[in-house]
Amino acid sequence: MTALTKLFRTTTFRLSLTYLALFSAAAAVAIFYIYWNTTVLLTRQLHQTIDAELKGLAEQYKAGGQAQLVRTVAERSQTPGNSLYLVADQEGHRIAGNLSAISPELWNSVGPVEFVYSRPAPGGTEARLAFANVFRLAGGYRLIVGRDIEERRELARVIWSAMLWGLGVMAVFGIGGGYLVSRNLLARIDAVAATTRTIMEGDLTGRLPVSGSGDELDRLSESLNLMLARIEQLMAGLREVSDNIAHDLKTPLNRLRNRVEAALRESHDEPAYREALERTIEEADGLIKTFNALLSIARLEAGAGGENREVLDVSALLSDVAELYEPVADERGLVLRAEASEPIFIRADRQLLGQAIANLIDNAIKYGAPDSCQGGNGPKPEIGIKAKAVGAMAEIVVSDRGPGVPGAERERVLERFVRLEASRSEPGSGLGLSLVAAVARLHGGRLQLEDNQPGLRVVLSLPADAVLNGATAQLAPGAELGRA
Ligand SMILES: Nc1ncnc2c1ncn2[C@@H]1O[C@H](COP(=O)(O)OP(=O)(O)OP(=O)(O)O)[C@@H](O)[C@H]1O
Ligand SMILES: [Mg+2]
Repeated sequence: MTALTKLFRTTTFRLSLTYLALFSAAAAVAIFYIYWNTTVLLTRQLHQTIDAELKGLAEQYKAGGQAQLVRTVAERSQTPGNSLYLVADQEGHRIAGNLSAISPELWNSVGPVEFVYSRPAPGGTEARLAFANVFRLAGGYRLIVGRDIEERRELARVIWSAMLWGLGVMAVFGIGGGYLVSRNLLARIDAVAATTRTIMEGDLTGRLPVSGSGDELDRLSESLNLMLARIEQLMAGLREVSDNIAHDLKTPLNRLRNRVEAALRESHDEPAYREALERTIEEADGLIKTFNALLSIARLEAGAGGENREVLDVSALLSDVAELYEPVADERGLVLRAEASEPIFIRADRQLLGQAIANLIDNAIKYGAPDSCQGGNGPKPEIGIKAKAVGAMAEIVVSDRGPGVPGAERERVLERFVRLEASRSEPGSGLGLSLVAAVARLHGGRLQLEDNQPGLRVVLSLPADAVLNGATAQLAPGAELGRA
């Protein structure tokens, strides 16, 4: 397909042509209407003028007969203008008037008639259009009273040529404009098509061009770019998961295998085998747990999960989970201090949010004990747990007095399998915070690690249900809305 046929096939060009045709038709109708009305008006004026002249002449004729009429016609013929007169005898000879010759056609007609007459002009004579009334007088005489209407013919010619010129210019501008606009649009569409091809060839970083004019094409490109960004993000997530499986899960699998091999080699009696098998099962369980966690994070990041959202009270959920962890904390010599607060309603998946809160409390218990206090007899270090409404967000805050996470590492620990060197002595796979971050993102919220001076303060903020929170004032105390 040549570039030109491609251009002519564009919707814009076809639309321009359609509009051009419609516009031309409308313009032609308008011009014709004006011409028609002007002609009607001019004709009416012409008839009125001639009638007035005739009335005057009839009075003269009545008063003084033919002689008086001839005199008056001769007189009036002297005044220059567009009026035409003729009084002729029965043979057609002119007796008075400014019409030089009388054609047989004019001679034989009676009443109003349009005819062509010749008039002296610089360098000869010219044929001009006239309109007249022809009367037969006594004795075969003729009286012709009329007016030169050549100007009317001129007007028709002017209007006709104006119309042709106007339509011509319009066609040139219309087709030219259509061509330019279509070319511009085609260039942009071609750019989009080229980008799409590079993306299809595997380069997911490609983005559709946005001209910045904010027009419909820009808006479409922006939406498609957002979609591409999302696809790129999903692909990156997928790649990350496969990388994680390849690297981070390979090590524990190898360890498992080596342990089984060592048991085979070194154990010689049943209790030793049994013990080796039990440890193998334990480790396999750990692996399965890690696998499950990894898969749930991947699912959450892909936007799946959380279909079972419901309106729930964060404060209530928080104290429920905290209660579950109290014995563990106590065993570790820590106190969980869950601050009671007003109900705060949010729309969330209860199970996912519960898991996220549990991960945060679990971390605070595992890493939140200050080194000096561990095993000491002083007051037990506290882990603060509270929920509060901050603007349109509901914040869940878990804070401890442990060593905290250095500022530079606070972003990194949210990544999968990242564990700080100091935490290696505790069991874990480094997926807990990744899951919390994924849950936060899925719910349109975010996870932030802050310095608790000393210790770590983890803030999980989620969008609150403004309508319901506004309505809590009217709810009866203890309304079980959050526990649907
Ligand atoms: N409250 C905390 N105080 C100090 N360090 C923390 C705290 N919470 C998390 N960390 C650090 O962040 C790392 C990542 O935490 P995350 O919860 O993701 O994994 P994990 O607890 O090591 O393992 P998992 O949660 O999968 O059992 C931890 O290994 C620890 O080094
Ligand atoms: Mg953890």
